[in-house]
Amino acid sequence: MHERIHHRAFADRLMSAEQAAEFIKPGMTVAMSGFTGAGYPKAVPGALAAQMERQHAAGKDFKINVLTGASTAPELDGVLAKAEGMNLRLPYMSDPELRRRINDGNMEYMDIHLSHVAQHAWFGFYGKIDLAIVEVVGVTAEGALIPSSSVGNNKTWLEMADKVIIEVNSQQSAAMEGMHDVYYGTALPPHRKPIDLRTVRDRIGQQYMDVDVNKIVAVVETDAPDRLSPFAPVDETSEKIADHLLTFLDSEIRAGRLSEKLLPLQSGVGNIANAVLAGLSRGGYKGLTAYTEVIQDGMLELIKDGTIEFASATSFSLSSEGIEEFNRNVDHYRKRILLRAQEISNHPEIIRRLGCIALNGMIEADIYGNVNSTNVLGSHVMNGIGGSGDFARNGYLSVFMSPSTAKGGKISGIVPMASHVDHTEHDTMILITEQGLADLRGHSPKQRAQTVIDNCAHPEYRPMLQDYFDRACKESYGKHTPHLLGEALSWHERFRQTGDMRPAN
Ligand code: COA
Repeated sequence: MHERIHHRAFADRLMSAEQAAEFIKPGMTVAMSGFTGAGYPKAVPGALAAQMERQHAAGKDFKINVLTGASTAPELDGVLAKAEGMNLRLPYMSDPELRRRINDGNMEYMDIHLSHVAQHAWFGFYGKIDLAIVEVVGVTAEGALIPSSSVGNNKTWLEMADKVIIEVNSQQSAAMEGMHDVYYGTALPPHRKPIDLRTVRDRIGQQYMDVDVNKIVAVVETDAPDRLSPFAPVDETSEKIADHLLTFLDSEIRAGRLSEKLLPLQSGVGNIANAVLAGLSRGGYKGLTAYTEVIQDGMLELIKDGTIEFASATSFSLSSEGIEEFNRNVDHYRKRILLRAQEISNHPEIIRRLGCIALNGMIEADIYGNVNSTNVLGSHVMNGIGGSGDFARNGYLSVFMSPSTAKGGKISGIVPMASHVDHTEHDTMILITEQGLADLRGHSPKQRAQTVIDNCAHPEYRPMLQDYFDRACKESYGKHTPHLLGEALSWHERFRQTGDMRPAN
């Protein structure tokens, strides 16, 4: 039998990616594995894209709907976007080719809280799932699937899809076997029961994923790495943001609102989140825990040096150095990392019970604390909300971080009114820029506005924000959340007209 395929029925269905892609027909809804550039199918999407291009060249339409766990990589989102092969994509993405087509208006994208995807699929909100393509590390003799570097929505896709294609990737470390916990206890309302996960370490499921062998139409062998995205080097700005966070956490410990072991950390995606994690090891903490979505390089370093003693997530999102480090010390990490389905890693019930500290990046925040994580100038989607909403609304603390300016100072990260809102003022407790930290807890809207202006705004934009707020306090229709509606989005409009949020003079 093959090295990683120990079940006859799977071995019998081995074929090329091109042959497997033949099972996918125009108009199908295809659910694929993959979460933040990890564990996505590496070969069938490329073969499918080539078929789509041939069909398009022959004047025929060939588009499908694509559902995943979260973002994937050029070999999936990139090739299908270039082939103009998607009608609809959900729930999260970060591929530049795909982003361009969405923002050009050439295809539809649904940006969904990551904890919602599996249950919405089960509720029938996305229609029938025709086919699933799932990357695994291997197939056991019993026909169970060893999950790969992400679990994401794979359990749901395998259960719901009519047909299944499995990619067995021999480049994924075989040592990952046993690092997963796949929970099979979810149900539809009104039959749901409490999910009995009380600490980040708890195992509530099984190591392997089940699949009905009769649904397997193809098995494809691959040998390719995950996306391996490099992180920007930690710069002065992100270091200052990390320092503000550390000072805040220390003051929370002194105030008795947190213990020295804090509470389980959730760390978002992006360069700032990665830099903040690196900063935590400077803080001298030991024995912390993480209940989060992705294990980035920064998280790995914290696990290595003992800052974090256990991390639960749904996926890895490592650079090539991160993967090398993981493989070098895999025995150390195996005992300290557990990967779960994203409906569990991001489950509001569990996040609320554990009391997570939610640390996420943002594009902009307004003076009242409404946060835009997704849409530049209110219209151009960057990535998506991801799991930030799952954690921000249900966490013990919800923190959003960003540099105070973008694009060389031409854009302020703090604006009079957010041009798109992902997290309302009711979900935002702490805002941090390199300028400082605004603690919005226990504050009314006007108190929040003054705190944000004083602590987070860049000095170049601070007088402009103060002027706006002062005039709004006098002239606004209501004085509870003062706004000048005709002016509230004028900074964004000015940037569109002149390329700079600052007035010319
Ligand atoms: N206006 C225009 N562009 C902006 C901007 C603004 N107000 N703020 C940031 N940007 C741009 C940056 O210039 C940069 O662009 P570039 O790639 O062309 O250089 C890009 O957005 C990323 O910004 P950066 O400052 O490097 O931050 P980041 O890598 O930490 O990412 C988010 C920030 C908001 C894009 C990222 O955190 C995200 O996608 N969040 C939503 C999903 C999420 O929170 N998931 C976590 C759940 S576990």
